[in-house]
Amino acid sequence: MPFNFSFRKPKTYLLMHKNIPVLSAEYDMDKAEFTKLLEVSNFEHVPYSAREDNTINLKKLNHWYRWRGIPDYRLGLDRLLNRLDIEDPRELLSKHYALSVSDHYWLKEESNTKTYEDISYFTHRFDQDGFGKAMFALGRAEPEESALKTPNNTLAGYQKKAWFHKNADLYLYKGGTFPCQLEPIHEKLASEIGKRLGMDVIPYTTTIYENQVVSVCKNMLDEHHDLITADEVLSFKKAGKDEFEYYSYVKILEEKGIANAQKALDDMLVLDFIMMNTDRHNQNLGVIINADTMQWEKVAPIFDTGTGLACLRADEEVEGWTEVYNYKLFNSNKIPDNVSAYLIKDLSRYDFKSLKDILQYYYDAMKETQVITGITERRIKSQVRLLASRIKTIYKFQKKAAQKG
Ligand SMILES: Nc1ncnc2c1ncn2[C@@H]1O[C@H](COP(=O)(O)OP(=O)(O)O)[C@@H](O)[C@H]1O
Ligand SMILES: [Mg+2]
Repeated sequence: MPFNFSFRKPKTYLLMHKNIPVLSAEYDMDKAEFTKLLEVSNFEHVPYSAREDNTINLKKLNHWYRWRGIPDYRLGLDRLLNRLDIEDPRELLSKHYALSVSDHYWLKEESNTKTYEDISYFTHRFDQDGFGKAMFALGRAEPEESALKTPNNTLAGYQKKAWFHKNADLYLYKGGTFPCQLEPIHEKLASEIGKRLGMDVIPYTTTIYENQVVSVCKNMLDEHHDLITADEVLSFKKAGKDEFEYYSYVKILEEKGIANAQKALDDMLVLDFIMMNTDRHNQNLGVIINADTMQWEKVAPIFDTGTGLACLRADEEVEGWTEVYNYKLFNSNKIPDNVSAYLIKDLSRYDFKSLKDILQYYYDAMKETQVITGITERRIKSQVRLLASRIKTIYKFQKKAAQKG
């Protein structure tokens, strides 16, 4: 279906950051974009990737805004939109003030007197099962209108996902790719490996939702913190066209006074190495900042490490895996093991012996959900062998690095 809205006149809206008016602009509800910038009220709070020198670039502002939302390539998008009676995911962007729970930006009409506390999803409930079922259900789902009042409209990423309130906390349920649905299990595995190796990783568990395996993790933010992804961070210092962005990223973090930036990146590289992560693009890492002061506080705990260990490959490709494997990092899709190991500044501090029984952990996690995924015993064993070979390989690199001194 083409993007086909009826035409309404653009109105003046305020982009807010908590209770701080950031800018006013004409906003076209039909196209879901800012059409004319009117006034900048607080430049300090302008999203980083929308800035250009000391001004705002309208195109970049719209790009930032669009990428806060559900992408066109979200798994199950057609079904979701059908159920919500929506034609295009962009229509969702500005529903219910464009509120998110990964940052604190929102949009309101100039005349609206609401405060952030009146509406924030950090403190206000929403129809979680309405959207959850619209996103995940394999059978029928007929959500009420209230399903649209949710922080899920401004939630990025490929996998099916939805936020849920439990007690006072927010949890993200995230699915995997059929048929094996290994990504949620890999999230859990990666967080267990990370924990044992002393890394700052978001803890993930798994559960069954709508007859599918989903990973479950707590929101890493609260009312005072925003996540800014590497995309935002890199808008500070564009790498040259053919330059690898990794070095710019480290430099920006160090200039911003982030403690242990290199150490945190080493952790991510080690985990990605073991997990054969093919998906460490610029939305899958970042920094946590204080939303009240815009102070950069720390590297965000490692998240989204599920797409690895050849989970998207066919059974026979995983069996006896011999391929040279390249993984994704920033703007490169071709990082082989030796380059990855080269980038890790200090491999000596990881106690890989702590992973002794992780193979059993991985095996059990796949067995636990086998009735749902239908994964074969043979595939499970191939997966375990692959993990074993990754641990062995990084251990060898560690020994080699030690010999070199
Ligand atoms: N624990 C979390 N707390 C807050 N925001 C999160 C959390 N996990 C993910 N997000 C947000 O959701 C986006 C998509 O999540 P991600 O795990 O990367 O999904 P996908 O696997 O579909 O890419 C992230 O870029 C981030 O903005
Ligand atoms: Mg992601």
